[in-house]
Amino acid sequence: MFNFNYHMPTKIIMGPDCVKKNSRVLRKFGDFCLIVTGHGSSKINGSLEDAISALEHEDIKYRIFDEVEENPSLETVEKAFMENSVHPVDFIIAIGGGSAMDAAKAVSLLFRNRITARELLSMKNLKGIPILSIPTTAGTGSETTPYSVLTDHQESTKKNIGQVIFSDIAFLDARYTINLPHHITVSTAIDAFTHLAEGYLNRNSSIMSDILAEKGFILFGECISALRNGCITIRDREKLMLASTLAGMEISQTGTSLPHGMGYPLTYFKGVPHGTANGILYEGYLSIFKDRRKIDRMLELAGISGIAELGDTFRELLKCDLVLSEGEITQYTESMLCNDTKLKNHPEHVTRDDIAGIYRSINRK
Ligand SMILES: [Fe+2]
Repeated sequence: MFNFNYHMPTKIIMGPDCVKKNSRVLRKFGDFCLIVTGHGSSKINGSLEDAISALEHEDIKYRIFDEVEENPSLETVEKAFMENSVHPVDFIIAIGGGSAMDAAKAVSLLFRNRITARELLSMKNLKGIPILSIPTTAGTGSETTPYSVLTDHQESTKKNIGQVIFSDIAFLDARYTINLPHHITVSTAIDAFTHLAEGYLNRNSSIMSDILAEKGFILFGECISALRNGCITIRDREKLMLASTLAGMEISQTGTSLPHGMGYPLTYFKGVPHGTANGILYEGYLSIFKDRRKIDRMLELAGISGIAELGDTFRELLKCDLVLSEGEITQYTESMLCNDTKLKNHPEHVTRDDIAGIYRSINRK
């Protein structure tokens, strides 16, 4: 029996030069825009220039906050708001990877509600000012999710702020990913795969989320050899960007699962990039499933022969030499056992030994 409740309100516009070609759609959002981005790549890959050109074409005034760091903090979000709060900001354009888009979502809430960044964590059902997203990596899917994951230094972790905030529009132009360093293309692509997988192997999965995931597995699988040999065409990049956005649509319904919860301490304490942190957990994660029917289907669609081949492929692509001590495994396992949201999304019963075993699997090279 079909049983689902599907909601994903973001308008998606994809294609080369889609920002400038569709500048007219910016007009209805108002007269003053705040661009939220990082300090580097959007200036190099053409995305910032295109956004400015579109705004100027529509006679929309703008300011730029370009201080979003990797794994953005509550403090950065507050700074973006405080430095621009006297201006009549009607809407936000987020340009960058997940960090810029997640930070921009939180900033949009601050503009509408005039609260501190920390209050975002405790207040419920906040609405923000409109936000348009221009992803420049193919991995996070934040342009089509309601999530904003920020670093909370007080609690030494990354966390979803718990508000539902979708972009009004996502502009997908894969050309912005052409100049990414290869290791970032790989890490973000694997992040997208992990979204597809964790939404698919999820207690909340439905026919709708599975449709999105299954197309995403095919697209990802078609790019594996290009990721391996480094000869990534613009067509591959379009496939990876679409897979990432489909994954965002999927996990906006299901949420992510164990690897995303378990990867946060690897990023926070060990500095492992987000996609890599998830990817190195995957062989161990998939191995704890008792019912492997959906895993088999997923791997078949991606053209991968089994869990061991997936593990080998990810090890080859990610080149991560992280080794965890038993003390670290115990600490991270206990922390994960407090993450009820991720534990609940896993479709089977999970034990302490399962979690520790997944962490321990990182050390098997
Ligand atoms: Fe992710």
